[in-house]
Amino acid sequence: MMTSFFKEISDTEFDLLRNVIFKESGISLTDKKKALIQSRLIKRLRILNLDSYKTYYDYLIQNYNNEIENLINSITTNKTDFFREIKHFEFIKEKILPDFEKNGIKKIRIWSAGCSTGEEPYSIAVIFSEYYKDKKMPDIKILATDIDTNVLMSGKAGIYRNEVLEAVSTDIMHKYFKRYNDEKINSWIISDSIKEMVYFRRLNLLDEEYPMNKKFDLIFCRNVIIYFDGNTRNKVINRFYDYLNDDGYFFAGHSENLSHFSDKYYLIGNTIYKKKT
Ligand SMILES: C[S@@+](CC[C@H](N)C(=O)[O-])C[C@H]1O[C@@H](n2cnc3c(N)ncnc32)[C@H](O)[C@@H]1O
Repeated sequence: MMTSFFKEISDTEFDLLRNVIFKESGISLTDKKKALIQSRLIKRLRILNLDSYKTYYDYLIQNYNNEIENLINSITTNKTDFFREIKHFEFIKEKILPDFEKNGIKKIRIWSAGCSTGEEPYSIAVIFSEYYKDKKMPDIKILATDIDTNVLMSGKAGIYRNEVLEAVSTDIMHKYFKRYNDEKINSWIISDSIKEMVYFRRLNLLDEEYPMNKKFDLIFCRNVIIYFDGNTRNKVINRFYDYLNDDGYFFAGHSENLSHFSDKYYLIGNTIYKKKT
């Protein structure tokens, strides 16, 4: 049994592991992230009963296809929230949806790239459902993708603890969530009507090919590229261009400025971008 006196990760071990992480996910770890890597990986070492990060690295190399998923799942930062960066949702409600309605749009395709545990795609689905509650709902599909298979599993389940739902109003809670029957934790499950709008799939933004053959009206990639280095940000942001309809909208995280990485978009406000065509 390992103890809290577990050996610290050495510089060499850190380099070996961060190189693999970068190659596989684009997540770029500076020297300051050494302690973070150590704390994120210690659970894997315990599970595998390994006594150092070098033995973990050797294990990874020998069992690459099985272990790489666990390594990436341990490293990703999955912080998210319902209605995070509320201005984006207000913009959808006040500008995008009235425009869609005015233009008689019957089919809407949305991509939440780096969706984490589902709060982002489900928030989008709720905003659309609320807008169309007394109107004929267009055909809306939200593709929710992430590299981390654990968060995708939670997203699909759609079960959230009470404290995760703080940003959700009582009215929305009553309409779109049901109490989840679990004696141990006080939790809620998202309603079937919302779940049915969202498709969770694994997608690594670094992949050479993305499997989608249609473009999207809205793309959300918020608080994902901040973990990448400059080149990867540039590559990924430019690739989104090909997946966005000419009159579509791209939503970045509030600290992410696309103009640093691409000249293919222009800002319309609150880290919401449109394509230059
Ligand atoms: C901080 S969360 C952001 C969640 C949500 N977009 C939001 O803003 O609330 C970042 C997500 O990006 C995912 N991610 C990191 N690298 C990725 C990659 N190469 N491909 C796809 N997703 C990635 C992580 O697994 C994580 O769930």
